[in-house]
Parts: sequence; structure tokens; C-alpha cells
Amino acid sequence: MKIECFDEIDSTNLELKRRLVSGGEHGTIVTADHQTAGRGRLGRQWTEEKGRALTFSILLEPKVPLTETSRFSFVAAVSVAEGIRDVTGLPAMLKWPNDVLVNGKKVCGILLELVAEMAQVQFLIAGIGINVNQKPEDFPEEVREKATSLAICSGHNWARADILEGVLRQLEQNVQLIQQQGFEEIRRKWEALSCVTGQEIQVVQYGKPVLQGIAEGIDDNGSLLVRTAEGTCSVVTGDVSIRDKDGGYHWNA
Ligand code: BTN
Repeated sequence: MKIECFDEIDSTNLELKRRLVSGGEHGTIVTADHQTAGRGRLGRQWTEEKGRALTFSILLEPKVPLTETSRFSFVAAVSVAEGIRDVTGLPAMLKWPNDVLVNGKKVCGILLELVAEMAQVQFLIAGIGINVNQKPEDFPEEVREKATSLAICSGHNWARADILEGVLRQLEQNVQLIQQQGFEEIRRKWEALSCVTGQEIQVVQYGKPVLQGIAEGIDDNGSLLVRTAEGTCSVVTGDVSIRDKDGGYHWNA
């Protein structure tokens, strides 16, 4: 694996997209100490305090049909959770589609982007942002309730290189696993780490009515299966909140 580190860059995902023009290579990794235009899911911004987060993107050449690419976002999420558990011992969990939580708060976000030609995907860019050494006051006020860092959860700082190494170790194994054995084992691992399956949830989907029901798990392409009064629905994209014992829906677990 080839890792390139930048002090500052707009976005590590954008950098890998630029690389593709001059020919990209499977396994190329770009990390940055600081992103000036970090991007999140659903067109959101991703901001991080300089030098405290681990932000990197990896270029994958999955050689699968377009319909199967969403599976790789679960490969990435499982690998991050396993890597964090391995290196720090913290109980990382997963929230659909690919948020990683510790103690019910978000510690990592993943942005999967694909570069496709016809029905065959050429490259996937998996962008991963892990909150490593932030203090509560480093997060913007509007996300302080929802976000945490490995340092906050463990009480001390971590070397970002150790976290990166732990996640890449798992990623390498899990990419091999899905290439050789298909999605089943990754789905099993995701379900085992999921804090959503079996819970009463609410899903906010852009341009659609809010959906409420019981999360039953994920299907073959990673869509969330939600049992509602009208039957089971399959959700492709959206924001999930979990119902607590007081009946309110909360973003976190
Ligand atoms: C989300 O939860 O909305 C996904 C956030 C993904 C952030 C990472 S940081 C590294 C990579 N570069 C980006 O611009 N975004 C991803």
C-alpha cells in the first residue's frame, strides 16, 4: 500500500479523484493533517480541528457490477469499528449506513464515492474521518451532543498512525473477504456490531415522508430493511434515529 501524507489539502477524496485523471492505482491512500473543504454524506460539510482527526481516503478497484458497490461502504464501516476495537479496546458500534459510534456518539464518518463507466464500476473512493484527539470544545456547538473522539472516550490521546494502521489491517482483510466469499460474512459482521438492528427507528429520507418501524437488518446491497405497519420497506439512503424508552427519537444509540 502506498500512503501519501499532506499537511493541508481541500479534501482527500477530491485528491484521489484528481489522481484518477492521471491513472490511479488500487490501494492508493492519501491522508491529511487538515482538510479545508472536507465533505460528508448527503452533500454536507465535514469539518475537523487541525491535527486532531485522522482523515484519509483509499482508492479501491472492486471489479464488481455497479449494483454491488454499496456493499463496500459496509466493508469500510466494519473495518473501522474492528480497527478501533483492536487498537483502543473501545466498544465501537455501527449505525446504518456507515457511522461508527462509541458510547452512543459518532466517532467516525465514511463517504463512499464511485467513479463508474457503463454498468461496471472502475474505482471506489472510501473517505474516512475518525475523531481521534478532539476535546469536546473542538467540535462545533451544533454537533457537540452527537460527536465524540477516541480521546474523550478513553481519557487519553492516541497516535493517529496507530489507528490508521489498525484500520488498514482490517480493511485489507475485509476487502479480501468480500472479493473471495461475497457479502455474507461482511453482513454478519455488520449485524453483530450494529446498534440499529432490532430497534424501533425513524428514518428521515430526502423528499419522502418520515418512516417509522423496526430495523430488521440489511439486505444484499446494504439497504436497511424496516418493518412498518404496512409491511417491510427497504431504505437506500437517509438518516436514522433510534427510539428511546421515553418514546423520543434520538440520533444516537
Ligand atoms: C459523513 O459522516 O458525513 C462522512 C464524512 C466523511 C469524512 C471523510 S474525511 C476524509 C474524506 N475526505 C472528505 O472530504 N471526506 C471524507
